[in-house]
Amino acid sequence: MLRNLPRQRWVHGPTPLVRLPRLAARFGLDLWIKRDDASGGVEAGNKVRKLEFLLGEARARQADTVITCGGIQSNHARATAVLAAQLGMKSVLVLRADDVHAALPISGNVLIDRMVGASIRLIDNEQWRDRNGIMAQEASAIDRAGGRSYVIPEGGSNGLGTLGYVEAMAEVRAQLDLGLGGGRPFDAIVHACGSGGTAAGIALGAAAYDVAPVVHPMAVCNDAAYFQAVIASIIAEARSIVPALPAPAGVVVDDASKGPAYAVSSDEQRAFIVEMARLCGLVLDPVYTGKGLHGLAQWVRRDGSLVGKRVLFVHTGGLPGLLAQGEEFERNL
Ligand SMILES: Cc1ncc(COP(=O)(O)O)c(C=O)c1O
Repeated sequence: MLRNLPRQRWVHGPTPLVRLPRLAARFGLDLWIKRDDASGGVEAGNKVRKLEFLLGEARARQADTVITCGGIQSNHARATAVLAAQLGMKSVLVLRADDVHAALPISGNVLIDRMVGASIRLIDNEQWRDRNGIMAQEASAIDRAGGRSYVIPEGGSNGLGTLGYVEAMAEVRAQLDLGLGGGRPFDAIVHACGSGGTAAGIALGAAAYDVAPVVHPMAVCNDAAYFQAVIASIIAEARSIVPALPAPAGVVVDDASKGPAYAVSSDEQRAFIVEMARLCGLVLDPVYTGKGLHGLAQWVRRDGSLVGKRVLFVHTGGLPGLLAQGEEFERNL
């Protein structure tokens, strides 16, 4: 379906589709994990799938500099910077920080951003509202100086980037056809949601390839109404790029586990993340996947009808974000 689009091949796929028996028993579900945290090397996580299409287009347009934005410890910014470096392109990262005058961190994603030579511009929470305008200014400055810029929106979440998750669902379908993952469609797919692109692609691909009838994105910021609208608009954009895409699966955003703030976990969430790691070696990050799986645990607690259902949790990566929060976790260890 997506054959004519420019694309880079980076995903180490198919990523594993696994059942961890102690985890399934803890949740009381037939729970499977799609290990997209293993989608690559240092660039691994959900963003690699989107960047196959986004940087594919950047390359086709002969861009030499890619510009994107995110939180200070953005996984998306890190994956973009690493893959841009692989293509011999420069990267400019517009990152949101509480203190724009503080020294740049030397941990987590920012360490990797700096390692691959990304230019980092810090902006504060007020400027963040105009992040698209700021990226457009960066792009004009590059173009005026004779360069060729390509702007990727927050999280790589637009109609083109989301196609990476349509492809991920084709990958799951192929695994089901081989008898993996229980060999039949899931009742629901659950994952962490930060900018909506993963959710939109999963919803489109889950319907196109009969993987599941409904997707439950677990918001890690904003609220359910915000994400329902964002996801719907990304879906519409993707369907305008690929008209052959059928109507999406149902999307039901859950915002009950977003915690105290973006990138800030509750003590209960930190304890849950440590519990999962010790139960079955499933290491989650505190910004996205920890909140995502915690959201599923809360949902099971609220809704007894879920017991025994076949659920696919997409582990979208984020390990560097955990490694940047060692101090926060110290008393949970
Ligand atoms: C590890 C991880 N999981 C989940 C997400 C959420 O994906 P999306 O931005 O497509 O909603 C992100 C990025 O925001 C991420 O870095």
